[in-house]
Amino acid sequence: MPRLENLFSPVRINRLELKNRAVMPAMGTGYAGSGGKATERLLAYLSRRARGGVGLIVTEICAVDTRGKGSPAQLGAWSDELIESLASITQAIHAEDGKAALQLYHAGRETLEAFTGAMPESPSGIPSPTLMQPCEEMSALRIAEVIDGYAKAAARAVEAGFDAVEVHGAHGYLVNQFLSPFSNQRNDDYGGSDENRARFALAIASAIRHTVGPDFPIIFRVSADELIRGGYDLSFMEWLAPRLVEAGADCIHASVGVFTTPGNLTIASMDTEPGFNLVRARAIRQASGVPVIGVGRINDPALADEAIARGDADLISFGRQHLADPDFLLKARRGEEEEIRWCLACNQGCIERLMYEFKTVTCTINPECGKEYKGPPVPAEKPMRVWVTGGGPAGLSAALTAAERGHKIELFERDGELGGQLRSASRPPNKKPLYDWVEWAKRRLDRATVVIRLNSEVTGDLLRSENPDHVILATGALPAVPPIPGIEGGNVFDARQVLLGGVGLKNSAVVLGAGYVGMETADYLTSRGVKVTILEMSPTPPVGKQRAHDYWLNRRFKESGGQLLLDSTVVGIEPDAVVYRQGDKERRLEPAPTVVTAMGASPEIELKSALDAAAIPYTVVGDADNPRRLLEAVYEGYAAGLEI
Ligand SMILES: Cc1cc2nc3c(=O)[nH]c(=O)nc-3n(C[C@H](O)[C@H](O)[C@H](O)COP(=O)(O)OP(=O)(O)OC[C@H]3O[C@@H](n4cnc5c(N)ncnc54)[C@H](O)[C@@H]3O)c2cc1C
Ligand SMILES: Cc1cc2nc3c(=O)[nH]c(=O)nc-3n(C[C@H](O)[C@H](O)[C@H](O)COP(=O)(O)O)c2cc1C
Repeated sequence: MPRLENLFSPVRINRLELKNRAVMPAMGTGYAGSGGKATERLLAYLSRRARGGVGLIVTEICAVDTRGKGSPAQLGAWSDELIESLASITQAIHAEDGKAALQLYHAGRETLEAFTGAMPESPSGIPSPTLMQPCEEMSALRIAEVIDGYAKAAARAVEAGFDAVEVHGAHGYLVNQFLSPFSNQRNDDYGGSDENRARFALAIASAIRHTVGPDFPIIFRVSADELIRGGYDLSFMEWLAPRLVEAGADCIHASVGVFTTPGNLTIASMDTEPGFNLVRARAIRQASGVPVIGVGRINDPALADEAIARGDADLISFGRQHLADPDFLLKARRGEEEEIRWCLACNQGCIERLMYEFKTVTCTINPECGKEYKGPPVPAEKPMRVWVTGGGPAGLSAALTAAERGHKIELFERDGELGGQLRSASRPPNKKPLYDWVEWAKRRLDRATVVIRLNSEVTGDLLRSENPDHVILATGALPAVPPIPGIEGGNVFDARQVLLGGVGLKNSAVVLGAGYVGMETADYLTSRGVKVTILEMSPTPPVGKQRAHDYWLNRRFKESGGQLLLDSTVVGIEPDAVVYRQGDKERRLEPAPTVVTAMGASPEIELKSALDAAAIPYTVVGDADNPRRLLEAVYEGYAAGLEI
């Protein structure tokens, strides 16, 4: 049987014939222009994804009304003047033999007046629990206007050459706000009973159907279950799905969750099982009788193929995997799984960057994501003899980029293994994908014929005698060791040592520092049955509960019976106790058979002075410059590899 036969078989949605069953779901990027228009950057990004062979691309949220804009840099379909911009999207995708659906959206209360120029509107004027700003209850007249806005936007999509439209009825935006008893507390025809709360969604589906004619494909995206207290559940969606079909929908895209769903299951982190939401797709498929798109932490085409074969779904969405590696479907089809750069489900470069840092989307491990418009790396004009010092992610990324441009690379790593801090970072529960990236990079380095020297420390003497043309200083960071009396004691270990398995574990441990390294080391220890107390000097926990991974870290820690003591500054460590100050009181914590330090990191840049003295050109990248995260390490390594 041919590989992945189910995934790569054609499928029909109304008149639309798709070459395979893989979908790239809508993902807001922040690349659109401020007037709602597509930019060269957005077109290049979409065109690159279409070239990867996906059957259908649903383009990112596109507002049907200026009051529905969720952010300044978002696509729009609220006026005829935007048709040309929309047509540039279909042209870019069609030119790569792809098909395009436009996602029609209104943010409702999930936006700010600064983005829309008017007070946000919603079914009941109840503020969004995340944004907490006032919003206005929509009148019956305004509801009719917005329904008409969806229909007009769909007509513009048809004119612009889109192959389908998708109504965004999920994730806590306006349509979902009407469906949910949590946000819809109206007592007119649009609120109260299931029928009334469904009226807005059904009216949108039938208004679009009326406008686009009987054979134009309409996809309706829903959150199959809101998974919040006071929200609707799967049984409501099983009831609604056939009614959506009756009103005009040809296909249901079965997503899950809203903004306040604990652990952000809409864009699930590495803590959630791949394919966890397929069970809901299956239920909606049975209830609706139309093709259903399954979604939710599905990276692996083999998993998608099995889900289709089992009858869970007819098509499968691969979201973040398309950011990490736009060619993953082609590679899977050729049986080259080892070549695939797998999404880590870390959310650092994509949704968290967009939502919490207000920056455009990229991918932690794919620094080219969002830079496609700049074109591929160009071969080096003058190939040089480049030394990369340090085999952590910054060094690996620099070596790969520079080698693929034709430079002659030697990579030196002091340890016996590549990966740097990712070796320990990948040990806590669910974090293995970080090391999978190291393995992927190793395979690519092998092919790029980079010379790798393990157990080889670069020293000032070596640099002076060998005098390479350029050095990439990717020496990373070492654990910070604050001057606490007793910190050199036999019961004290660094978190990285513990994670690498070099420490015999006892029944209990005290972790010093509740940042990510501390919390994840605690997670590692509690998963092995160790009772953990964490001491943190800050009065608030450094790792919150809002981001998906953070939520699960905190939840597992609480479930393990662990204790987090805030406002607690360690003043001394004894052979079986930790002494700390809380307010003006000094306290003792005992027993403390194992004390684990996780109190930050300091850059390792001793080689800088030797390089300056020898006048060897160099570039500092990653934690060696300033201890941060994987994203910065990979990106700065890539940028250095491009520049030399
Ligand atoms: C427990 C833990 C969990 C983490 N989890 C995450 C996470 O989930 N997400 C995230 O974004 N970040 C995480 N981080 C941080 C992330 O791992 C670092 O930001 C990243 O590894 C920095 O990469 P780098 O290449 O700059 O440095 P490093 O990873 O520190 O690599 C530097 C390498 O250089 C080598 N070296 C140093 N000097 C020399 C020399 N003179 N000659 C040869 N070799 C030398 C070192 O041995 C080391 O292998 C975590 C860190 C830890 C410790
Ligand atoms: C950066 C980013 C932006 C997103 N924007 C949208 C969006 O515009 N519309 C939408 O319906 N879903 C959006 N989503 C959710 C995705 O469509 C998808 O459902 C989610 O990422 C889960 O799929 P995955 O696990 O394959 O990534 C977004 C996800 C990400 C990562």
